[in-house]
Amino acid sequence: MSEIAQEFDPENYSFVIGIDFGTTFSGCSFVFTGDGTEEVVDITDWPNHGSQYSKVPTALLYQDSGHNLIAWGDDAINDPDQSDNPESFLVERFKLFLDKSVESMPELPFDLTAIQVITDYLTAFYEYTKTVFEESFPDLYDPSKCRYCLTVPTIWNDMAKAIMRKAAIQSGIVDPYDHPNRLMVTSESESAALYCEKSFPGFNLSHGDQWMLCDAGGGTVDLVVYAVDESSGERQLCEVTMASGKSCGSTFLDANMEILIKEKIGHLVELNGSMMLQLMHQFIEDMKPQFDNEEDMFMPLPSSILEVIEDLDSESEIVDGQLVFTANELREQVFEPVVLQVIELIEEQFQQSSSEIKALFLVGGFGQSKYLFQRIEEVFGDRLEFIHVPPRGDLAVARGAVIYGLNQQKVTKRILRRTYGIWSAMMFDPVLDSPEDQIVDGDGMSLCNNRFFAFAKMGDAVGIDECVCSEFKWYRSESQSLRIYTYGNYGDAPRYIDDPDIKLMCAFDIDFPLDIERNHEEGIPALVGIYFGSTEMRVEITIHDSMFTYTSAYDCLDNSYEVGYSEVPLKRSSMSLLVNKYKMSTTYIENFARLRSSVVHNSKKPVANI
Ligand SMILES: Nc1ncnc2c1ncn2[C@@H]1O[C@H](COP(=O)(O)OP(=O)(O)OP(=O)(O)O)[C@@H](O)[C@H]1O
Ligand SMILES: [Mg+2]
Repeated sequence: MSEIAQEFDPENYSFVIGIDFGTTFSGCSFVFTGDGTEEVVDITDWPNHGSQYSKVPTALLYQDSGHNLIAWGDDAINDPDQSDNPESFLVERFKLFLDKSVESMPELPFDLTAIQVITDYLTAFYEYTKTVFEESFPDLYDPSKCRYCLTVPTIWNDMAKAIMRKAAIQSGIVDPYDHPNRLMVTSESESAALYCEKSFPGFNLSHGDQWMLCDAGGGTVDLVVYAVDESSGERQLCEVTMASGKSCGSTFLDANMEILIKEKIGHLVELNGSMMLQLMHQFIEDMKPQFDNEEDMFMPLPSSILEVIEDLDSESEIVDGQLVFTANELREQVFEPVVLQVIELIEEQFQQSSSEIKALFLVGGFGQSKYLFQRIEEVFGDRLEFIHVPPRGDLAVARGAVIYGLNQQKVTKRILRRTYGIWSAMMFDPVLDSPEDQIVDGDGMSLCNNRFFAFAKMGDAVGIDECVCSEFKWYRSESQSLRIYTYGNYGDAPRYIDDPDIKLMCAFDIDFPLDIERNHEEGIPALVGIYFGSTEMRVEITIHDSMFTYTSAYDCLDNSYEVGYSEVPLKRSSMSLLVNKYKMSTTYIENFARLRSSVVHNSKKPVANI
């Protein structure tokens, strides 16, 4: 059901909270706007958190066939029994389940689904942060006065973003009936870029200068190039390349290391879960950050391993109870295969940009790696004026999310990573189109009813307030949904909607104004405007004098995720293209007074059916 929109007023909220849901660690920063300051504060005190790292492990410990979540964060990882207890199951890196390109993900235990574990984690995370706020702001904290900015990897598709929104709602962070703006979903790289821009005193780049952001985390590495845009008088950023990224973060070093350890001592000792956990802990905490490709490295072996190795003295790989790794071995088998993927991604960004890129900012946990820095300097040093690793790069995303929450106008343009369009009937071409798809509309016009009409194309630069509009006629009254399709490859989009490379992304049910005669012979004029410039797409459909607003947060479909989505049969479009596509500024659209006399939005629509 639709209802008259409540305009969103940020003034109603006194906390802006940034949540960086990471593959290995998650972070939280916030600002209390109630006292007029904009000082960003981090939550660094997590339950039983022994590490210097300011974020909390993204980990859950389940028991009893997945029905019982017994610990989260450090408690999940540090539970002494968990690794060898068949009754309990540690779940980590589950964010990667939402990246379809990652192969070889382990099965989730029991009958858990990706969205359920993400929801469980966010619930625990949220409940804990509430206690921190209650203690720190006993008189000022009120959950209904908080709004949130949740970050997602830049390379995720719209479906994965919608799943995150759904998980945030299920975990109680926001209510399904809240205005969508209360929970902003934005990209990790953009948040990190905003942090770099705001916090780096040496950020002396001027109008038009380009710089690259590389956020190398535990799971993904995200990259994008920005240009400094001072045309409005204040410094803003505009994207100049299409963001790229890959799941090749620091945990892929861990996976390589695990293989290397097994290669070295797997034949001497049967490595059980807790042994491997201890060894990997040493690698992650001590060896990985220190590796500089010069010194050989030593890993002390626990007594549980040393005791079972029969002839310890004859093992040349083990010296004084320590397993020896040569620098060469670590480079070739652990670091270089992953680092090379990062280098390739940086090179791709250089190729995409036609102008000089002056600087590279390296953030994220993996972004602190000495070896990664060395290699980037070696390969790209002569093309860059400087490479900078900002302080607290691990918190760049959470802090940047807060900066985004405070001002969504800081990035003025974004580059589309996909082509978006709808299924529509367009002028029939007897040479190209099949007679089977030919229909004649109420005006006697011959149309092909199988066309993909691209609203905006991959690589297009779209302003954040820019609306791409087309006028349509709605013919078949029985179909009331507008379906948005995407095409993710380079080059021209296919002509026909049933091309296998065109994917259905979402469907919005349109609540036709009640006074409309449904079987209108001449078609019902409808103006469809899509805003692509925000992280989540927004669609406005104007029919007669009513406007309906939808965000891609709703009604996303993708049955390839096993997260409980019901299959929705594809229906033919009921739209035919009336007027060519044109771009309009928001102000211009506002001049459509006749069409805009009332504004309706569907925030009451239950999100459960996405
Ligand atoms: N100096 C270092 N060298 C290499 N890896 C490091 C270093 N410091 C931390 N890491 C690794 O970085 C990862 C954590 O980084 P970060 O917090 O940025 O990732 P994340 O946010 O969990 O992941 P993602 O952003 O990919 O979802 C962990 O895998 C950690 O072991
Ligand atoms: Mg991260």
